[in-house]
Amino acid sequence: SMQFTTAIRGNFFDIAACVDEPQRLDAQLRHIPDGLLLLNEGTIVWHGSWRQGEALLPPGFAVTDYRDKLIVPGFVDSHIHYPQTEMIGAYGDQLLGWLKNYTFPTESRFACEKHAGEMSAFFLRQLLSNGTTTALVFGTVHPQSVDALFSQAAALNMRLIAGKVMMDRHAPPALLETPEQSYRQTRALIERWHGRQRLSYAITPRFAPTSTPALLAQVQRLREEFPDAYLHTHLSENPDEIAWVKALFPESRSYLDVYHRYGLTGGKSVFAHCLHLEEQEWDCLCRTRSSIAFCPTSNLFLGSGLFNLQKAWQKRVKLGIGTDVGAGTTFNMLQTLGEAYKVGQLQRYKLSACEAFYHATLGGARALALDDKIGNFTPGKEADFVVLDPAVSALQKLRHENSPALADQLFVLMTLGDDRNIYRTYVDGKVVYQAPAREEAA
Ligand code: GUN
Ligand code: ZN
Repeated sequence: SMQFTTAIRGNFFDIAACVDEPQRLDAQLRHIPDGLLLLNEGTIVWHGSWRQGEALLPPGFAVTDYRDKLIVPGFVDSHIHYPQTEMIGAYGDQLLGWLKNYTFPTESRFACEKHAGEMSAFFLRQLLSNGTTTALVFGTVHPQSVDALFSQAAALNMRLIAGKVMMDRHAPPALLETPEQSYRQTRALIERWHGRQRLSYAITPRFAPTSTPALLAQVQRLREEFPDAYLHTHLSENPDEIAWVKALFPESRSYLDVYHRYGLTGGKSVFAHCLHLEEQEWDCLCRTRSSIAFCPTSNLFLGSGLFNLQKAWQKRVKLGIGTDVGAGTTFNMLQTLGEAYKVGQLQRYKLSACEAFYHATLGGARALALDDKIGNFTPGKEADFVVLDPAVSALQKLRHENSPALADQLFVLMTLGDDRNIYRTYVDGKVVYQAPAREEAA
């Protein structure tokens, strides 16, 4: 008979399977207003209605009751920089000035192991208190930045992907390395962390402008030696950046072609931003099964541009949502989805709540080649999920009572929601975050 250690009752919402067109999402939507989820330690073993599942429970088996809450799969943040946590909201610059004036000085502090440890703890706590259970994370150029983050994620048994930045030009000397040093340090980190518990390594060249051809050749060598590791970088974010890449790599047909020539595209490659792609770059992303991280709060904050979600569907390019903290302005996926909606509005694209939650869960899992492990409540998957309180403030309660239908509830969470709506976060079947007790909203 089926083994289980935990029973959770509540209002469940997830997407049953990945889709290639947004019109197909409705057919995959699963909403079980009175549902049951059974876990065996960190694995989902049964999911269905309370009425069908109740008989599986031995007499007296403890059931955690979240019937007044909404339970969704843990959010997937497909692009974020943990060392930039302390510099969110840096005033006045677009990408290149922002990097020079704020980002590089902040990242220099991660040479200090103690600082990296403190910031790792703060960062992971921010993810969990915002319902994010998996992320693809940039470190700094310092290997100790990644050791600090991975060792703390391992203690939580989180599913996390991260890597040390690789860069050998166009940054302050303290943040530069030689291509050989970058290779050796990255290789040692892959051997230490990749595939340990639920951790994976992402080979992380910052972006083309901070990479010499010799560095990119070392990235390619690592890719060939560790074909199972991820590749994580930035692509086509800002017009000045794109012009710079064309000047630095005149032999390449496009920005993406700089990476593609070194074999850096592929099914485990994630490119953040992709705002100003040429047709051939879209086609190359599709052909190589590469993924995009769409980072709406960052794109608006740095004035980088408007991501074309409709085009991503048309070109069938896998897509996840990234907060891109610290260019992004929040860790919170609800707020990030609300900004994604507005980016759609500016281009006459209607981002439904169902599509938005898909990108933030199962779709994001697919973009990270993790859709066989996380992203919904299908038995066999890992037990990472969020218990949302759909109405915590007076305004949310007023709005919520006005239209309690699921689609409205989800959409209003994207519009009015924030970290207060995260009631509990589960990782590996265990509560890893619990909201503070709240006064009744006035
Ligand atoms: N391009 C190169 N580095 C960065 C970074 O740290 N943040 C963003 N948003 N874009 C980049
Ligand atoms: Zn970024």
